[in-house]
Amino acid sequence: MDFEIVKLAYFSPTGTTRQILKAVTEGLGAANVEHIDLTLPQAETQAPTEIRDELILLGVPVYEGRVPTTAIPRLSQLKADKTPAVIVVVYGNRNFDDALLEFHDFAKELGYLPIACGAFIGEHSFANEDRPLAIGRPDADDLKAAQEFGAQIRAKMNGLDSINEASLIKPPGNKPYREIDRSGLADRSAVTKDEDCTLCGDCALLCPVGAITIEDTVKTDNMACILCNACVKNCPTGARVVDDPMINKIANWVSRNFQARREPQTFL
Ligand SMILES: Cc1cc2nc3c(=O)[nH]c(=O)nc-3n(C[C@H](O)[C@H](O)[C@H](O)COP(=O)(O)O)c2cc1C
Ligand code: SF4
Ligand code: SF4
Repeated sequence: MDFEIVKLAYFSPTGTTRQILKAVTEGLGAANVEHIDLTLPQAETQAPTEIRDELILLGVPVYEGRVPTTAIPRLSQLKADKTPAVIVVVYGNRNFDDALLEFHDFAKELGYLPIACGAFIGEHSFANEDRPLAIGRPDADDLKAAQEFGAQIRAKMNGLDSINEASLIKPPGNKPYREIDRSGLADRSAVTKDEDCTLCGDCALLCPVGAITIEDTVKTDNMACILCNACVKNCPTGARVVDDPMINKIANWVSRNFQARREPQTFL
């Protein structure tokens, strides 16, 4: 089975999921690559699209061992009819728990045929110099692994006369999926150090849930914030921070306990 068009659909607030999908595409060697970026709020109100015939790569980060809830309605706009799909999650070196299985099952519900799955590592959203968790990942080795995964997918597709012949895969994970308990974090958000803020507005433009408005100071809707850290990592002056005792406690604990380097895992 040949394919010329590859679509990449992703939710990627801090960009590591997007990086991995791009590297997989390089390994696939597709002539025509189309991006469907589901990161910003407008992705939710876009007209539903049916993805047909092409190969699609679907990617999300792992949040609390699961698919981020924000990504679900956005992905639901991309229905499919037996479209071959590569399912990718990217996690911050702790664990992907049930996220890959959940994403795989959800893609099937939407009409995709998952022909390959992968879990890759990206710099942890909460990483900083005090808690260096997977800093700088994906690195050159991760990107090489992602490219090799792409080449393996190409070989699998080339060996098929029709998509109906594809062996489907089942990634690791448990059902019921890991429970998400946000009770302790529900009303916490990134905040702004006014003295360092130039009111440039970058943070508001890239917030995936539209939680930020710029007035005479930066205002944040702390019930909407999903703590993705996109504003923190992209603020040009370092004015945007997540500096909450409870979040710091959890993030420091994760950093202390999950330093051992984890490697990408792929399933074909
Ligand atoms: C709210 C939240 C929860 C997270 N939960 C996990 C987790 O359970 N396991 C893990 O290893 N990393 C976790 N991470 C880290 C992200 O999965 C990781 O940094 C990923 O590379 C971010 O992807 P992105 O750059 O595409 O946004 C979490 C990050 C956030 C913001
Ligand atoms: S990106 Fe940083 S400097 Fe710009 S408005 Fe937001 S907090 Fe202020
Ligand atoms: S305000 Fe919250 S949701 Fe918006 S970019 Fe910042 S951390 Fe992410």
